[in-house]
Amino acid sequence: MSHPDKPLLAGVMGCPIKHSLSPILHNYWFKEECLQGSYVPLLVEPDKLKSALRSLVKLGFSGCNLTIPLKELAIEIVDDCCEHSKKIGAINCVSVQPNGFLYGSNYDWSGFVNGIKYAFPDFQLKDKLVTVLGAGGSSRAVCYGLLSEGVSEILLINRTTSKAESLKQDLGEAIKVVKWEDRHSYLSDTSLFVNTTNQGMAGETSLDISLDMLPVEALVYDIIYNPLESELLRVARNRGNMTLNGINMLIHQAIPAWEQWFNITPTSSEKLINIMEESVNSE
Ligand code: ATR
Repeated sequence: MSHPDKPLLAGVMGCPIKHSLSPILHNYWFKEECLQGSYVPLLVEPDKLKSALRSLVKLGFSGCNLTIPLKELAIEIVDDCCEHSKKIGAINCVSVQPNGFLYGSNYDWSGFVNGIKYAFPDFQLKDKLVTVLGAGGSSRAVCYGLLSEGVSEILLINRTTSKAESLKQDLGEAIKVVKWEDRHSYLSDTSLFVNTTNQGMAGETSLDISLDMLPVEALVYDIIYNPLESELLRVARNRGNMTLNGINMLIHQAIPAWEQWFNITPTSSEKLINIMEESVNSE
């Protein structure tokens, strides 16, 4: 816990950073917990990351989050990091230790899993077949989370097959790589379909996928939250699938960050989700 006489400080480093929803989330919790504190967006270019992270100590920050494109770079800079982040190859959270050391963690994987558990408490991942689109940094965390929940198999589909192959190499045998051109025809046994690509994000084209073969009982999870309902989620909802956007993942990766920085466990709520969704809509 930080010194009681000084305000609690944390932030998020990224480039760009101004569209990040994290300040709204964390500053809501400061208010909710009646704490004097602040969470700030910090525009940090990759070549300045090392000095920016070291400055956290001098400025009295408890830590920070990291977003695109800094997560892989940051793991090379911190003094130590958790086993999960070593497997994933990236961190999304840094906490300043009492001796000034920087400790890195990855909570994207658990945020992804706990986002499902919060929104659909009866949905079981164990022994299920899951299809994941994309093989970038987010996909690595998502696949790690799914494997830790005991899914039977992940069909991993990426435009660049070699990146999916290298993810499989790192995370294991339960991953089967499927070619991008075959993506429409592999969905018939899928219980959970996850989009981790940038396709469908505001400013990008929609994800080019046909859901015709997907069982109507499947959950469709797009980790994008801007827009709140991507074209993928709109199509999925209209055919009767359960759908989930990335807001829950964002909230649930932030809870353990607070535990680490402030020794406090904040909670999610419909009110918080609504506030975050309204903020996306008002952009
Ligand atoms: P993040 O950290 O958010 O995962 P990333 O590591 O840059 O971001 O990964 C972006 C993902 O979106 C990758 O899987 C990428 O596919 P490639 O590996 O082939 O680049 C995917 N992606 C980006 N543009 C795409 C497009 N036009 N069609 C399909 N996939 C795309």
